[in-house]
Amino acid sequence: MSESEAARAKVGTGVAGLDEMLGGGFPAGHVVLVTGLPGTGKTCLGLQYLLAGAVRREKGVFLSLEEDGPQLLETARQFSWPVDAAVKDGLLKVIRLDPKQTQQNLHRIQGELGKELSTLGARRIVVDSVSLLNMLSDDEPSRRATLFALAAACRGAGATTVLTAEADPLHPEVSRDGLSEYVADGVVLLGYRTAADGQRVGLALRVLKMRRTAHTRSAQPYTIGASGIAVDAKAVDFGG
Ligand SMILES: Nc1ncnc2c1ncn2[C@@H]1O[C@H](COP(=O)(O)OP(=O)(O)OP(=O)(O)O)[C@@H](O)[C@H]1O
Ligand SMILES: [Mg+2]
Repeated sequence: MSESEAARAKVGTGVAGLDEMLGGGFPAGHVVLVTGLPGTGKTCLGLQYLLAGAVRREKGVFLSLEEDGPQLLETARQFSWPVDAAVKDGLLKVIRLDPKQTQQNLHRIQGELGKELSTLGARRIVVDSVSLLNMLSDDEPSRRATLFALAAACRGAGATTVLTAEADPLHPEVSRDGLSEYVADGVVLLGYRTAADGQRVGLALRVLKMRRTAHTRSAQPYTIGASGIAVDAKAVDFGG
C-alpha cells in the first residue's frame, strides 16, 4: 500500500453510525481518545471496536487497567458478540495492567510493550483507561512521558488505537487529566444530554477532532443495547 493509500485507509469502528460520521471509520494508524463520564459506554465501545476487528480476522489487544480479564470478557458476553470464539482463535487478547503494580507497569510501557504489541501482531489496540494510567505517576512530566511512550508503542506496532479517558465532571468536553488530548489524533466524546431542568434525557456522541478527516461535528444520539452502542448519525436538530 502506498503512503497516500495508507493515509486514506479507514478502520471500521464496529459502530455503524460512528463510521458514517467519520466517512468510513478511524484513519488507519490513528490514536483516538474516547472520553466520557462514567457509564457512557467507553469500555463497551472499546470492546465493540476489537470484536469488529476479530470478525475481519484482525488481531486486537485490550490493555485493561480497570476490569480484569475474566470481568471484561463477562462484560463482552452480555452483548451479542462472538467474544469466546475471538479469544479462542487468538484474535482477542486481554492484557491486564494492574494499577497496583505501578513501577512494573511504567517500566513495561516505556520498555518492552511496543515489542510485545508488534509480536502479537495487534492491528487494533484499546487502552482502558488512560485516566487510571495517569494515576500511576506523581507528576505531570512523567504522566506526559508515559502517555507519549504508550502512544508510540501502539503506533510503532502499526495498530489503530482507542484510548479511553474519564471526562472532567465540571468540563465534560475534556478529559479529567487534560493531557490525553495531546497524544491523540482524534477525540470522540460520549456524553449525557440534559434537559433544561438538568435531567439526563439520553446519550449523545460527538467527534471533536479527527485529523485528516472531514467528519460530522454535531452531537448525534446513541443508545447502548443488546448489540452494543448504536449511533443515529442521521438525527437532525439534536442539541447538546
Ligand atoms: N448488556 C447491556 N445491555 C444494555 N446496556 C448495557 C449493557 N451493558 C452495559 N450497558 C449500559 O452501558 C453502561 C456502561 O457502559 P460502560 O461500562 O462501557 O461505560 P464506561 O463509560 O466504560 O463507564 P466507566 O467510566 O464507569 O468505566 C451501563 O451503565 C449500562 O447503561
Ligand atoms: Mg469503563
